[in-house]
Amino acid sequence: MATTMEEVRVTPFEQLGGREVIARIVGRFYDLMEADPAYAKLRAMHAADLGPMRHSLTGFLTAWTGGPKDWFNENPGKCMMSAHSGIAIDPESAQQWAGAMKRAVADVAPDDQKIADLFAERLSQIAEAMAGR
Ligand code: HEM
Repeated sequence: MATTMEEVRVTPFEQLGGREVIARIVGRFYDLMEADPAYAKLRAMHAADLGPMRHSLTGFLTAWTGGPKDWFNENPGKCMMSAHSGIAIDPESAQQWAGAMKRAVADVAPDDQKIADLFAERLSQIAEAMAGR
């Protein structure tokens, strides 16, 4: 059967507002981690300079949401497991990660609230699942 409509695939990356919005979420996430003692344990696990992480997490989440895959090209063979090998993630640090990410998404408030909520919720679930491995 002929169709006059082409299938249009929209990625979560596009729905969120692209790399610019993801970079703002990541920026807010690390700003909160630096400023709010509620995330002190998580902050202490990171290097003094969070600049490289701001770049890396933006690139990772860009790829993860269906945007350009530069992060995987820049980090051949790296994955979520290898990126965190040797890092002792416990429930407290995982909850701090999830809490800071939920707040960062809420503060940046992407236009499409439904996809923003899904993004924050899925990342929080992943963070919590990483505890105690
Ligand atoms: C569960 C709680 C988590 C903790 C405690 C945690 C902690 C860390 C730490 C300490 C680093 C190294 C930071 C540095 O060198 O300064 C790191 C790297 C990284 N994390 Fe996490 N992380 C968590 C969850 C996540 C999640 C859910 C994601 C993404 C979905 C993520 C993505 C990354 C990326 C992309 C890197 C950088 C890898 C690289 O460029 O080498 N992390 N994480």
